[in-house]
Amino acid sequence: MSKRGFTKCSSGHFRFAVTDKDAKAAAAALTKIEALMQKTESYWTAKKANDGVALTKDARALASEAAAAAAKGSLADAGAGFEKMTAKCNACHELHLEKR
Ligand code: HEC
Repeated sequence: MSKRGFTKCSSGHFRFAVTDKDAKAAAAALTKIEALMQKTESYWTAKKANDGVALTKDARALASEAAAAAAKGSLADAGAGFEKMTAKCNACHELHLEKR
């Protein structure tokens, strides 16, 4: 995936935004992650990696929920959603899809 730097960047920005209590920046970072997961989903759909596709869908839904919470200024909920989302990201990394 050529967008990995972007992903790293977006999740990093989310963490900074939460530390700074900057709900707008947090919502923006989560929205970027959501869009990225949408692209990731198309990528793995084309490769017919169904387990990976299911995880991108989950990660995208959780990013979207967390973004909505951040947009409402509720950084605690956004942070909780972000942690849940990260579990999905990591679950997919454990699958080692890049070796298929
Ligand atoms: C469909 C499975 C899948 C999901 C879901 C997924 N990733 Fe990944 N991710 C991968 C694969 C496969 C690679 C390795 C790609 C490569 O080497 O080309 C990767 C690589 C990365 C890297 C680069 C790691 C490095 O050391 O260079 C980052 C950062 C990353 N993912 C973050 C995330 C985040 C954040 C999420 C959740 C929002 C996420 N990923 C969700 C499959 C996934």
